[in-house]
Amino acid sequence: MTNDILLEANDVSHNFDYDLFKNVSFKIQNHSSLAILGKSGSGKSTLLNILSSLLHPKSGEVKFLGRNLYKIKNKELLKIRREDFGIIFQAHYLFRGFSARENLKISSLLSKKELDYELLEKMDITKVLDLGVGELSGGQQQRLSVARILSKKPKIIFADEPSGNLDQENSKNLMKILFDYVKYNEAALILVTHENDLPNFCDKIYKLENLELKEIK
Ligand SMILES: Nc1ncnc2c1ncn2[C@@H]1O[C@H](COP(=O)(O)OP(=O)(O)OP(=O)(O)O)[C@@H](O)[C@H]1O
Ligand SMILES: [Mg+2]
Repeated sequence: MTNDILLEANDVSHNFDYDLFKNVSFKIQNHSSLAILGKSGSGKSTLLNILSSLLHPKSGEVKFLGRNLYKIKNKELLKIRREDFGIIFQAHYLFRGFSARENLKISSLLSKKELDYELLEKMDITKVLDLGVGELSGGQQQRLSVARILSKKPKIIFADEPSGNLDQENSKNLMKILFDYVKYNEAALILVTHENDLPNFCDKIYKLENLELKEIK
């Protein structure tokens, strides 16, 4: 890939009832990971929504492979969102009333990528593929939603507390899968987390505090 910078934020500011952050700028490259810390309500999820094309910032720009996300045509933006961005929300969105396998197939159809059974094996969900989403445990649902996102081979993974509902072993396992993914693919990871030791595995750590995004590693 010629352009090594995948995503770039320039002077991004946002507010709802009050200012959340001002002049947020950073860049993220292929094969790298970045953690965003900050106390509850500081605006981490809002920032992630802005970076991942879901929320128009009040000012500033977000560029994906050099293109301003909020200036490109809607059709093109939908394509990027569907094929290049993998968004892991704080609350996961699986299609209830469908089986685990069907949830994976929908994503694979939309992104035109084959399902990766090796990955499903690693995530320990092959046994539950034919169960309905409602029959899965919370952790299995979490892993299924991550597997669904990775199976489209995104260029950027935006993960908001991805291991929030998991026990320590599953959390470690899930994070290793995400870190390995960016190591072996032309991809990057932006991770919001409250957990203390996770950021240390990231190449860079930022903290959202007093309206600023500060680099702390
Ligand atoms: N759509 C919205 N409309 C109005 N206010 C909002 C909206 N989304 C978020 N907020 C407010 O913005 C602030 C930051 O919310 P955000 O979800 O970004 O915080 P956070 O850092 O992710 O917190 P947490 O760690 O608890 O998930 C909160 O005060 C929230 O109420
Ligand atoms: Mg949040």
